[in-house]
Amino acid sequence: MLATTRNTEISESRAVRAIREVFESGRPLAYIRSSEEQRVGRALGELAGQLFDSSLPVWTWSLTEGLRGEAETLQPGAGTPRGVLDFIAAYPGPAIFHLKDFHEPLRESAEIRRRLRDIYENCSGRRKFVIMTSPVRFLPPEVERSVMFLELRPPDVIEMAAFLRDETGGASEEVLRQLASALQGLTLDEARYALRRALRANRELGPACLPAVLEEKRFLINRSGVIEYVSDPVGIGEIGGLDGLKKWLLERRKLFQAREALAADIVPKGVLVMGIPGCGKSLCVKAIASCFELPLYSVNMTEIFSGRHGKPEGAFVEACRMMEDMAPAVLWFDEIEMGITSAESGGEQGRIFAFFLTWMQEKTRGLFVAATANRIDLLPAEMIRKGRFDEVFFVDLPQPEEQVEIFKIHLARRGVDLAGIDLRQLMQFTAGWTGAEIEQCVVSAVTKAHLAGRPVTQDELIGVAAKLVPLSRTMREQISHIRAWAFERAMRASSPSGPGR
Ligand SMILES: Nc1ncnc2c1ncn2[C@@H]1O[C@H](COP(=O)(O)OP(=O)(O)OP(=O)(O)O)[C@@H](O)[C@H]1O
Ligand SMILES: [Mg+2]
Repeated sequence: MLATTRNTEISESRAVRAIREVFESGRPLAYIRSSEEQRVGRALGELAGQLFDSSLPVWTWSLTEGLRGEAETLQPGAGTPRGVLDFIAAYPGPAIFHLKDFHEPLRESAEIRRRLRDIYENCSGRRKFVIMTSPVRFLPPEVERSVMFLELRPPDVIEMAAFLRDETGGASEEVLRQLASALQGLTLDEARYALRRALRANRELGPACLPAVLEEKRFLINRSGVIEYVSDPVGIGEIGGLDGLKKWLLERRKLFQAREALAADIVPKGVLVMGIPGCGKSLCVKAIASCFELPLYSVNMTEIFSGRHGKPEGAFVEACRMMEDMAPAVLWFDEIEMGITSAESGGEQGRIFAFFLTWMQEKTRGLFVAATANRIDLLPAEMIRKGRFDEVFFVDLPQPEEQVEIFKIHLARRGVDLAGIDLRQLMQFTAGWTGAEIEQCVVSAVTKAHLAGRPVTQDELIGVAAKLVPLSRTMREQISHIRAWAFERAMRASSPSGPGR
């Protein structure tokens, strides 16, 4: 009988659970795709002692090392692929056999493929399990149906914390979990690098190691080219106006942080922010990450469609999966309308959209999706209706009182004393300005004042403001089009009681 009724859920890692399921299915042959064969070895060792009433011996084979038993005893005669399969066939009792890089013999030899099918018959129902590992998936058709295939995802928090505990010896559980959480998405080898780097800069493992760990992770992630770690954090206080969105965010933050204990349908999944360029969409996404206290990653849709990462559909799916491994995190799709268009359009883009809809529904709870869009006419209607976003916000040109707030934020950031400045008067010149234009006005005035060697004055600001031609004047039609479109489809980000839906 399988001894699996013990309470293992809490401490069992995702990897151990996945491999346990292979054993529980009773299938004698499994193929695990992973570049981390030591991890598989470790999980097999852990499971060997738990699965049945008595512990199973674990045998490990590779072409270079031959077959070894538990006491590292070499088994002569079982060095070749054929030899090890014969050994397994003749083995009298229950056991686990771990065959490393077995894709090569499978690819090369019809005899091995045939022998593996004999092994399937031979091991069935006898507690003899053969686990093949390889960094690539190669399963010839004649054995495919007898072999259970499994892909090992990177270690989860439990496994990573156990690894850190082994590597470092000491540190509180709190610190271990914190670091393990920051290291999500990396392999154990990569995590070891990150750890070394952190320990070089800090004597001992503690919260002070986090920045170094994240830096290393950022480097590793950015290497992929498709996903980028966004490092400039924005506090919610650095956004002027947009009170509706801010209020929503603070409410959702509580729900998100309690996500493991909540029913799936109330766990926040994501938000779509659309609106006029330069009014703070990107700013809001960065603030979400800070507010939820999570790292922010952005998906580069241009890279996905570049063809440099294989077919766009595959690259997109891979990026989404990779991000699930890195959860908890905020995932940002900027200009989502450029990559994801209607499912009805068919073809690659249609399939990507269809995948996105299902994925939004099923993805791990720890991932919050933030999508931003400018060209809303390109955005398929289903994205808004069925996009599975918790809310769709429209970021409009700032209202006068919001403009005052934005001015204050940017002036204060550049050390300008607000006492001598009458922002109300300035407002006469700023009708229809975006947040980006307000920032630009402040920067110009500060630069001029600096060159002239005096503090920024009211007149300086007015002088700059009077000359600025805002985007909303040159793009009047587009902006009223965006507004009309958004009015009935989205919630205004400005004020919870403002006009709109
Ligand atoms: N509400 C705001 N509060 C404070 N600053 C703002 C606000 N809106 C815009 N800004 C300033 O303008 C800059 C540009 O804003 P942001 O990049 O967030 O706009 P966006 O809506 O993402 O524009 P785009 O469509 O061009 O990507 C910000 O870095 C910020 O300095
Ligand atoms: Mg932007």
